[in-house]
Amino acid sequence: MTSEVDAVVLVGGLGTRLRPLTLSAPKPMLPTAGLPFLSHLLSRIAGAGIKHVVLGTSYQPAVFSDYFGDGASLGLDLEYVVEESPLGTGGAIGNVRDRLRGDTVLIFNGDVLSGCDLPALLACHADRDADVTLHLTRVLDPSAFGCVPTDETARVLDFLEKDPNPVTDQINAGTYVFARPVVEAIPTGRAVSVERETFPGLLQAGAVIGAYLDDTYWRDLGTPADFVAGSADLVLGLAPSPALAGRTGESLVLPGASVHPTARLSGGTTIGAGCVIAAGAVVTGSVLFDGASVGANAVVERSVLGRQCEVGEDSVLRDAVIGDHAVLGRRIELLAGARVWPEAILSDGSIRFSTDG
Ligand code: GDD
Ligand code: MG
Repeated sequence: MTSEVDAVVLVGGLGTRLRPLTLSAPKPMLPTAGLPFLSHLLSRIAGAGIKHVVLGTSYQPAVFSDYFGDGASLGLDLEYVVEESPLGTGGAIGNVRDRLRGDTVLIFNGDVLSGCDLPALLACHADRDADVTLHLTRVLDPSAFGCVPTDETARVLDFLEKDPNPVTDQINAGTYVFARPVVEAIPTGRAVSVERETFPGLLQAGAVIGAYLDDTYWRDLGTPADFVAGSADLVLGLAPSPALAGRTGESLVLPGASVHPTARLSGGTTIGAGCVIAAGAVVTGSVLFDGASVGANAVVERSVLGRQCEVGEDSVLRDAVIGDHAVLGRRIELLAGARVWPEAILSDGSIRFSTDG
């Protein structure tokens, strides 16, 4: 073993909370600020000087390898490991053990947008000579995450996944440093949750788990609201990504899109390649996948429009998710978490739908 650091990215989840968008691509490959989300994470890993990256895949594995290949275009040496059936977050980490080259492993949830200083996280791990070091952040609702209380020396005391009554606002931010033997000790041949089994088991056995708490940008892109907000923050330059250097602003219009001069784009909106935005349309804080179209005077706020979908004139979309190839006619109103599945046709101009109840 050497001092080389391997990176492992967990990208095998089904992305159920982002359906129907994740029917045609895994969550980490959905376009955010004009690039598959994983491009932003991989560019951060490359920027930290790490070369060897292993992707732990399961759902739609070919989508990753078809796009990134051997990683050379990012300056990386990229490998793929496929789980025949999902092994869970811990099983996925154990499952890449044969590919590791060094004695320190930097592990990432594949859906987190973060400004964490990776070299500082690695230094924190080395200084403590820890078995595991967790990146922690503070959030308003810790019950949706792994809650991680620590002592005054920043040693982890407990790990409580999705606890309805969290004891602290410090949460697992989804980036970990593992000493190699911890990876080797993960059981094989069955699913293992790193959050519900590995971390609690290590703590019970007296392992040293250190915490690296910071207050840099952090967001898990696993829900539609976070997905649009994360993409918008990338476009606006509020969220860091070396892959976007010099390309940030109120909106990002990809080559081949057509935007009428009277249309207004703002709030970190991305307009994908081949999109058509008609006169008077207003698009704010939204993500339009390639080939989507928005009719005259339509309003689209904080929404995701799938590939080739059509939004008719005078329609209003707020906090909505529209699947690929769906066709929305004129004057349709979709609000507050409404989801339209691929190929759906809503042609009655009187359709109004809200999930607000
Ligand atoms: N290879 C593989 N196999 N990857 C998986 C599997 C699997 O069986 N299951 C999940 N993943 C990947 C997902 O693709 C995602 O990138 C990552 O593991 C985390 O899964 P999520 O489904 O996004 O988990 P979460 O957001 O509910 O919670 C996790 O992340 C939070 C921070 O964002 C937990 O780690 C929490 O403790 C944490 O606070
Ligand atoms: Mg997540």
